[in-house]
Amino acid sequence: MAPPTPLDASPHLLEFLKTLHSQSLTQEATVDWYSLPDQRSDAFDDLMRDKFIALDQDKCELVYHILRSINAKTVVEAGTSFGVSTIYLALAVAENTKRNASATARGRVIATEKEPSKASEALKNWERAGVEIEGIIDLRIGDLRETLTRDLGVVDFLLLDIWAPLALPALKLVQPCLRPGAVIMADNTVKAADKYEELFAYVDAPGSLFRRVTLPYEGGLDMIIYQ
Ligand SMILES: C[S@@+](CC[C@H](N)C(=O)[O-])C[C@H]1O[C@@H](n2cnc3c(N)ncnc32)[C@H](O)[C@@H]1O
Repeated sequence: MAPPTPLDASPHLLEFLKTLHSQSLTQEATVDWYSLPDQRSDAFDDLMRDKFIALDQDKCELVYHILRSINAKTVVEAGTSFGVSTIYLALAVAENTKRNASATARGRVIATEKEPSKASEALKNWERAGVEIEGIIDLRIGDLRETLTRDLGVVDFLLLDIWAPLALPALKLVQPCLRPGAVIMADNTVKAADKYEELFAYVDAPGSLFRRVTLPYEGGLDMIIYQ
């Protein structure tokens, strides 16, 4: 018996995603993770400028299924890089909105990346991904502290796949647009727990409208529900 397909996508796209994840992992194996410059420094940006650092495939698949189950139509991604995770987000949103007749009701993924060279690679990858995600992604090139200040609509899901010190600023920008029941996912929350202290303090504060659980994925993956 054939194994179940993890997502509703064509064999071409599944194969392409596999290739992208494999390229990302090959690159990551060349990085010395124990002697990285500070995440807020130019040296860190220089080192990461040609790196995918894509969200792991199993995490991308989980995110896809969460989007399908909450029927997400508007998604924000903080940290797009070469656009690998964005393809999963766009596939889910496209599937959730495929019965909508008008193009404007099709839902969207607002993706943001500050490095123009990475954004341009993302555009090429989405072109190669093809019609299954066509017309869904709204790419905003620039610093998220500027790009996420406008026109978000009502947001169902926020992916925080960003350098950890930027996770809280991104959440605070999107928070006024979150619908009750919206889901936020943040990556690497166990491995980089010390860098997420401000985010955790904010969402775990007494009276907070957020509820947070850490999922046992590689490096930790936090799922935060907005009530
Ligand atoms: C972990 S990578 C994102 C990987 C991507 N989600 C994927 O799975 O393919 C984080 C990205 O955030 C970008 N980034 C860092 N600071 C940013 C900022 N202030 N505004 C927008 N993007 C930023 C980095 O350039 C990097 O490409």
